[in-house]
Amino acid sequence: MSQVWTGLLGPQRTPVAVKILTSTSADGAEVRAFKQEIRLLRLTRHPRVVPVARVGEIPSTSKLVRHGLARAGAPWYAMPMAQGSLYHRTRTWSWSELATPVVQILEGLDHLHRRGVVHRDLKPSNMLVNHDGDVMLADFGLALRPQVRTRTLMPWAGTPVCMAPEQVEGRVGDFGPSTDLYGLGCTIWRLMTGGWPLKRTSQVGTRMAQLQAPLPDFEPAQDAPESLVPWLRRVLSKDPAGRFANVDRALEGLSRGGLLPRGESPPVRIS
Ligand SMILES: Nc1ncnc2c1ncn2[C@@H]1O[C@H](COP(=O)(O)OP(=O)(O)OP(=O)(O)O)[C@@H](O)[C@H]1O
Ligand SMILES: [Mg+2]
Repeated sequence: MSQVWTGLLGPQRTPVAVKILTSTSADGAEVRAFKQEIRLLRLTRHPRVVPVARVGEIPSTSKLVRHGLARAGAPWYAMPMAQGSLYHRTRTWSWSELATPVVQILEGLDHLHRRGVVHRDLKPSNMLVNHDGDVMLADFGLALRPQVRTRTLMPWAGTPVCMAPEQVEGRVGDFGPSTDLYGLGCTIWRLMTGGWPLKRTSQVGTRMAQLQAPLPDFEPAQDAPESLVPWLRRVLSKDPAGRFANVDRALEGLSRGGLLPRGESPPVRIS
């Protein structure tokens, strides 16, 4: 298990967010998974991906160790402090507000996918908003390169409300750009309606619904263009082949539907 703490970095004492592997019983597999998260984040340097400012290991003299919150030697990484994540804004979004963040997320995803990385955990809390009001992808805890088999793969891992059917079934061979487009589709649905498309009362029920249940009607709380509905239904296809194959195709779909932002949008504020 990991936690995010605030910290101050370097002689300038720059405020940072520090993600630490806090579980005191962390075994080799957990440590390897956390180090893999750092490796993949560092592999994908892009304005739309949260940068790693520093990495290190908790010294045995740390307060966290004395208070039993982390093991001596536990790995951590520091990132610039963001305003928060899309999860922190409780109001629903109109499409005119959300179009720019969605395009920014797609830009970040395109960069990941071109490096063979699939994020696998797209959801509002993993989309940070920096102090310029731009969105960045974060939390590479489940990110993987499907072409590179690793021991820490966890094929069935994910957040049920945002999981594509191939994730629910752990079909690693089907993991790819369209897996992340599905997670983005669930996120957009949630941000615009206030509810998840296929949430059920239990996590198992939600996983089953992702596999089998048809999508309900899309009922946005605020303005949304009609052309958004077929685009969303396409990214939420059960069959990966029914979705857009990659980010370029998804952007073309937005463009055809007249859904791309018009002119410069104001910076995103979450509070
Ligand atoms: N750089 C940052 N600046 C500000 N807040 C951050 C930053 N990084 C993470 N956070 C906050 O910490 C939360 C958890 O971070 P992260 O998603 O990386 O950890 P996690 O342990 O994988 O969480 P979860 O299991 O909930 O996805 C984020 O949703 C966000 O609210
Ligand atoms: Mg997270």
